[in-house]
This record gives sequence, structure tokens and C-alpha cells, in this order.
Amino acid sequence: MEVKNIDYSKPIEIAHNVFWVGKRSELEFEMNVYLRIFEGNGKKINMLIDPGPSTDLEVVSDKLEMVLGPGYQIHLAFINHQDPDVGMNTVFFQRHFPNLQVIATEDTWRLIRFLGLNPKRFIPIEKFKTGKIKLITGHRMTFIPTQYCHFRGASAIFDEEHRILFSGDLFGGLTDSPDIYADESYWEGIKIFHQIYMPVNLALKTAVDNIRSQATDLKMIAPQHGRLIKDDLVDDFLERMRNLQVGLDLSQRSKMTSDSFISAMNEILQEVTNKVDAVIVNNTIRAFGSDGSFPEILVTKDERIISVKIGLEEAFQLFVNQLLIDLNEEQTKKIKFIVMNTLTFWNINAENFSLEESGNAESVTADGDLLEASDANQSGEPINLEKVMQALYKHSGGEKFARLATLRLLVKIPPQLLKRNNIEGYNDLIEMKETTDADFAHHLFKAVETIIGKSISEILSE
Ligand SMILES: [Fe+2]
Ligand SMILES: [Fe+2]
Repeated sequence: MEVKNIDYSKPIEIAHNVFWVGKRSELEFEMNVYLRIFEGNGKKINMLIDPGPSTDLEVVSDKLEMVLGPGYQIHLAFINHQDPDVGMNTVFFQRHFPNLQVIATEDTWRLIRFLGLNPKRFIPIEKFKTGKIKLITGHRMTFIPTQYCHFRGASAIFDEEHRILFSGDLFGGLTDSPDIYADESYWEGIKIFHQIYMPVNLALKTAVDNIRSQATDLKMIAPQHGRLIKDDLVDDFLERMRNLQVGLDLSQRSKMTSDSFISAMNEILQEVTNKVDAVIVNNTIRAFGSDGSFPEILVTKDERIISVKIGLEEAFQLFVNQLLIDLNEEQTKKIKFIVMNTLTFWNINAENFSLEESGNAESVTADGDLLEASDANQSGEPINLEKVMQALYKHSGGEKFARLATLRLLVKIPPQLLKRNNIEGYNDLIEMKETTDADFAHHLFKAVETIIGKSISEILSE
């Protein structure tokens, strides 16, 4: 959905009587706060969901006033888990509205009570044996346990009327635009956040299974960070989440393996400084700097990489992609050579990466019709590349990620085929609409499949 021109300084009504009242700071890592108004049986209840960090208090309270008018009341606050970015503002609201009741799990309460919340105004979720509450307005909400995502006592809340799941940190993610609604590209931001903050895949799998069984006909996921997920993305992201490797899954790799990757990356940086251009190294290091709202993916110190916060292969791939941005042909050639040499030296399997030598090792799952022509070289019949390239951009998302995806694509196509098609860099590839070179199309389709994770027939039928 196009959400340009939305004024983020105003509350946004995401469903009838459900408002996004968060703040956008143009950081990678944004917080969301929601207001749910229940009206019925002559009563009105205002509930805050994850009231947010104190840094956002002013914006949140201004937006509440815009929705509810001056002299408003907040009756309930739901808190997903104990982190200050989720619940800190509850203290200020409770000072203002002494009758404000706090709903959370007992695990969460044991920690948030230290913020100075009134124990007499705490309602434990555990009190509701069925996991459901019915409000005096007639509305129903279901609490869905999402243990260890990322806190043991985390709980999501499901609005049965609108089929919206307020999921806390689960499905939160980094963003590269202020839009509040997710597109396909948001998955990359979710992935990075979860790889760092979530403990283990089993926690995600269990949470997704709970959500699927209890939040039936789910229409929207409203996380505490990043963007809101709706329409087809809901099922798609649930499935991806269920299979995502995070935290311990990634760090179970032996220290030796992780040391090899880090040494290899530092050696590449050193070689590029010595043999190509130190500016490229500086740019790469700078590109991995964080704006402070989120940990760095690659942690650097004194122009060296000291640790990696996401999967090793993934980090290495991003590192190489970054290194190869905006280079001339000569530099690209030299750097690819350095990368390959270093990988060999450190005994790291180059086939896991999008370097042209890996081309043959990838499995082909594609549609026969499109790929059969690959035996021939110049088939004469033009093959349309536009739809596939569009799909690549769509799936890889915002500009930031589309560029990375194109670079990944470039290194997956053998250089002689690039040359044959007069592709010398990024721009040539994005401008290419068709080719008569079936070999080239074959490699391109195969690479797009690997990057998107779907077969060409699936991609084209979308
Ligand atoms: Fe958290
Ligand atoms: Fe959070």
C-alpha cells in the first residue's frame, strides 16, 4: 500500500478506534505506541498498548490529546514485557491518572513494578484462565503467550474485533523510511533485529504456533518497533518468522569459525588498503556505523572488525556487497580477487557467497520453460528481463535493499556473460530490459531465485 503523504506528526487511525500514537525520530529503530478506544453499553475505555519510552512521552501525550480531546482519561495500559522502551511512560500516565490499571504477565510485573507503578492497580494476565478478557463495553481481547520473544514473560494481545495482534518486540524491525506500514523490504529489518534480540528459533516457532492457533483470521500485526504488517504479508512473515534462525542458533557456531570470518574480513580490508584504495575501506567501515538506536551489525574499532552480530555468512555477504559498491571495473576485479584469495586462505567455502565462482553450485528450482533455452547461447529470441528485475526490487524492498540485491545479482553472474551483454556495473544491469543471450538470462534467473528464495515460475505468477 502507498502510504506516502501520511503525516506522522498526527495520530494515525489504523482501524476504527485504534490509533498509532507513536513518534518517528528518523532512526533505524523506531518505537510504536497504540491507543485502543472501546465504546459500547454506554461506556468508554481508553487503553494504551506499550506506552513507550520517556523520550517519546511528549509526542505520545500530544497525540492522545489530539484523538481524545483535552481532559482525556487513560484507563488501562497493556505492557508486553518489562523493557523501558515498552513501558516507561506508564509511570507518568499513572501519576496523571492514578486509577490507571496495568495489565501484564506476572513475570513482567515483577520487573516493571520497580518503575514505581502502583501494585494495587496491577491486573495479572494469569488471572484470566482462558487467556481472554471481556470488557464492559462488550469487546474481547485474547492474550497470546510469546515466551522468550524476547522475554520469558512476554505476551501479545489480540483485538478480536479488528483481528489485530499487538505483538511487542516480536515482528519489530529496523526501518529505512518513516512509513508505518510494511512492504516486502521490511522483512530484512525484522530479520536483523530478531537475529540480535531473539534467543533461539524454538521461541519464535512456539510463538508463531500460538498466534496461528489463537489469533485466527489475523488481519494485522502491530509490533512495538518498526512497521505494521497487513494483508498478504501477515501469513508470509509468520511463515518466515517460524523458520528464522536467531541468537543462539547463530552463535552456536564454533569460535574458530567466527574467528576465521572476522580475520578474513580484516585481511580483506588490509589488502584493499594496500592494493586498491584506503577510501573504499573507510567507506565500508562507515557504512556499518549505527545511528545509535540499534547495535551495529558489524562491530568495528580502529578500522577493524571486531565482532559480528548476525549470521556469519550473512554478515560476510553484506560486507562484500558494501565493499563492491561504486567501484570502477578495475577496482571491482581486484577486490573480487582479494576476496576469493582470502576465503581460500581461511578455508571458508566460497560457494556460500554471491561471488561469480559460486554460480555453478547453486541449485536450480526454476520453471523449465524459461530455463531450457540455457543450452543455447545467442538464441535470437529476446528474453524479457523486466518482470524478473521488478520482482527482485519488490522482494528486496526499499532503495537501500534493492541496491544490495542488484549487487548480489551482479556477483552471481559470470564475468564473461556480463561482458558479452555490455554490463560493466550496477547501472547497466538495472537499465537492461531484455537479452537475446539465453546463458545470461539463465544465470540471471537462477541468481534472482537464490536471492528471493522462490522459483522463477512463482515469481512470474505473482
Ligand atoms: Fe524488548
Ligand atoms: Fe522493544
